[in-house]
Amino acid sequence: MSSFKSIEFVDDHLVLIDQTKLPLVEEYIKTDDYERIAVAIERLEVRGAPAIGVSAAYALALAFKKYEDNSEIHFKKVYDRLASTRPTAVNLFWALNAMKNIFEHFCSEEVKLYDVLLTAAKEIHDDDVAKCNAMAQNGLPIFTKKSVVLTHCNTGQLATGGGGTAFYVIQKAFENGLVEHVHADETRPLLQGSRLTAFELDKAGIPFSVNTDSTAAVLMQQGKIDLVIVGSDRIATNGDAANKIGTYNLAVLCRYHNIPFYIAAPTSTVDLSRSSGKDIVIEERDKTEITTIKGIQITSNDYNYYSPAFDVTPHELIAGIITEKDLHQPPYNFNVGIS
Ligand code: MRU
Repeated sequence: MSSFKSIEFVDDHLVLIDQTKLPLVEEYIKTDDYERIAVAIERLEVRGAPAIGVSAAYALALAFKKYEDNSEIHFKKVYDRLASTRPTAVNLFWALNAMKNIFEHFCSEEVKLYDVLLTAAKEIHDDDVAKCNAMAQNGLPIFTKKSVVLTHCNTGQLATGGGGTAFYVIQKAFENGLVEHVHADETRPLLQGSRLTAFELDKAGIPFSVNTDSTAAVLMQQGKIDLVIVGSDRIATNGDAANKIGTYNLAVLCRYHNIPFYIAAPTSTVDLSRSSGKDIVIEERDKTEITTIKGIQITSNDYNYYSPAFDVTPHELIAGIITEKDLHQPPYNFNVGIS
């Protein structure tokens, strides 16, 4: 079992493992300052759609730890700051809105808002743990034999409040003797695969190798991949799914090589207000994430760059979407049956 905690609430502080330093350094950020948590989300010290949502919920609660005046203005200021951190992962807005409902319900009552909001944040965290467990269970039927799996970006404990989305599906399948080996895409430009997924696979004792993103095609051509499973940051009601840049490439490759391509994500990742992927806002990252590696300049800042953090995989390329409710199969219609 893994020996690290990615998100913990201890002594009225949020404790986050600093994901920008992994796997070489295991360092923790301990804070009760909502602004520090907002910065941690922006810097990707905490990242992964569900983990961002859980952290933001704790941040909203902590904003009331020392705040005596139960003010709506204060709540709105903190809500807006946290909502401005990253645009694509809908779990952030899902968690902020869940907290907003609690605030609106209790703000005119004689209660200590910190206590009420903290209880709500802990419930969001616990709920994510339960959703991860259910997803892992619901994903088992996609393994029809002992399989070699390829994954992209990072979707385990680091990316969620619980065991993970796609990662936990793979881990549970491994524990059931259904996974032989995992290929982890390194995931340029921020290397969530070679740094974070490799760290988690290693801790979980799952046999794995890391490959550059462009090697996925060759692995498939050589017949070495049985299935691909990834997470998602936002799913439209028709099943179009935004995930880390490079995911769409994999889905296209899978179609060509006749390999099933699966998404695993909690229903908090489904955006009922988006009927298709073209309405999903895609975050653009700073060019320095391409021009530098770990602070070392590798190319000129003077060139033009295009650095979307996510892409959208069209639903017709997705063999199944694993949520905590079900293993959903095409045609997808998340307008019914998930709320
Ligand atoms: O930019 P990141 O590292 O936050 O992107 C994360 C991903 O794309 C994950 O695959 C996604 O959040 C699903 S994880 C549970």
